[in-house]
Amino acid sequence: MTKGIILSGGWGTRLRPLTCTTPKTLIPIVNKPVIERQILLLKEAGVKEIVLAVSVLAKELKNYFKDGSRLGVKVHYTEERTPMGTAGAIKLAEDYLKDDNFFMLNGDVIFNFDLKEMLSAHQQYQGVCTIASKNVKDPSRYGVLLINEPDQRIQEFLEKTDYKPPGGIYVPMPINAGIYLLEPEVFSYIAPHKNVSIEKEVFPTVAKEQQLYNFTISGVWMDIGNPYDLLKANILLMKDLLKKSKEARDNLFDDSINIEGKVLFYPPVTIGENVVIKKNCIIGPNAIIGDNVYIDEDSEIKESLIYNESHVSKNVKLNKTIVSNNCLIEDHVVLQGNDENLVILAANVTVLKNIRIIAPTTQCLSICHHEVVRESLQ
Ligand code: GDD
Ligand code: MG
Repeated sequence: MTKGIILSGGWGTRLRPLTCTTPKTLIPIVNKPVIERQILLLKEAGVKEIVLAVSVLAKELKNYFKDGSRLGVKVHYTEERTPMGTAGAIKLAEDYLKDDNFFMLNGDVIFNFDLKEMLSAHQQYQGVCTIASKNVKDPSRYGVLLINEPDQRIQEFLEKTDYKPPGGIYVPMPINAGIYLLEPEVFSYIAPHKNVSIEKEVFPTVAKEQQLYNFTISGVWMDIGNPYDLLKANILLMKDLLKKSKEARDNLFDDSINIEGKVLFYPPVTIGENVVIKKNCIIGPNAIIGDNVYIDEDSEIKESLIYNESHVSKNVKLNKTIVSNNCLIEDHVVLQGNDENLVILAANVTVLKNIRIIAPTTQCLSICHHEVVRESLQ
C-alpha cells in the first residue's frame, strides 16, 4: 500500500517573523496549512498512512495533526533531534516505509493535481524514483532536471548550487518540484545516522544508474520560499480552487459569514468561518480572510492575507499586507506594501490608531509578534 512522507523540518528563515512561532509548513494557504492540503491530496490518491519528518517546532506540528484521525489518515512522526537533511530525514522513517513505494513531499510546496496520475506514471516507468517537475522561467532557485524526452528518463539531476547554466544565463527549464515517488530501494543509497541531502547525494547517483524518471505537473505549483511567494501562492491556489469548484463561483465564502450593511466584494475573495464584516467595507480583489476575523466599517482589504482571530477596526486600509493570528488594528490605520515588498504583522501585534506603515521599495517591512506599533513607519 503506497504511503507518504512529508518533510517539515527546515527553519523557514526567509519567512520570518511568520515562522518564529509557526513552522513554515503550518502557515495557511487559502486558510489551511500547506501540509494539511498535501495530506488531503495524498488521501485522495488512496494514501492512508503518512509520516511527518519534523525537527524545528515539532511540538506545534504534533499538536496540530496529533494521530491524524481528524483528517481520516494515520499520522506518524520521526524523531530528528538536529536536522538530518532531506534524505537523512526519510532514512529515520525506513521502518514505516520499507514495504512498498511511497510519496515524499517537500512540505513547503503548493499544488493541486491528481497524485494518482503520478503513481500510475511511476508504475509504468519502473524506476527507483520519479520526480515531479514544473517548467519555470527562472530555474536559479531550484534543482534542475535534464530529461530524455522520449522515455522521460532524467539523465542528470543538478541541485541549484551545482547547476551552472551555459554562458551563465538561466533559461526556462523543468525544475524539481519537491514531489517524489520512491521505491524502498532508495534507502540503500542513504547512509544511516548522517546528514544526507537527497538532492545532492542521492538523485545524481540514481540518475547515473538510469533509475530516475520525470513526471510533468499539470496545473498550479509554487514553493512558498518568501513572503511575496506566500501571497502569490495563496492567490494562485484560490483561483485554481474556484476554477475547479463544481458551482461556478466568484468567491470562496464560508456559510457563516455575517455581513452587516452594504459591503463591496471584488473577486476573488476567500472568507473563513465566523467572519463579521460591517457596512461600507471594500474587500478584494485577492483578499483571503481566515476564521473569526472582525472587520469594522469603511475598511478596505485588497491583495492581502488575514489569518485567524484578528480584529480590524474602522476605516483601516490594507494593501499587500499579511496579518497573522490575533492582531489588533485600530481605527484609521494604513498598512501598505508595494510590488514584492509586503507589510507583515506577526502574531499578536497591535497597531495603534492613525498609524501608517508603508513598506520601502527594497524589502518587506515586518513587525515581530507581540509588538505594539505606536509610531508610523515608512
Ligand atoms: N525533516 C527535515 N529535516 N526536513 C527538512 C530538512 C531536514 O534536515 N531540510 C529541509 N527540510 C524540508 C523543508 O522543511 C522543506 O519542506 C523541504 O525539506 C525543502 O527544503 P527547503 O529548504 O525549502 O529547500 P529549497 O526550497 O531551497 O529546495 C528544495 O525544494 C525545491 C522546490 O521547492 C530542493 O528540493 C530543490 O531541488 C527544489 O527545486
Ligand atoms: Mg523550499
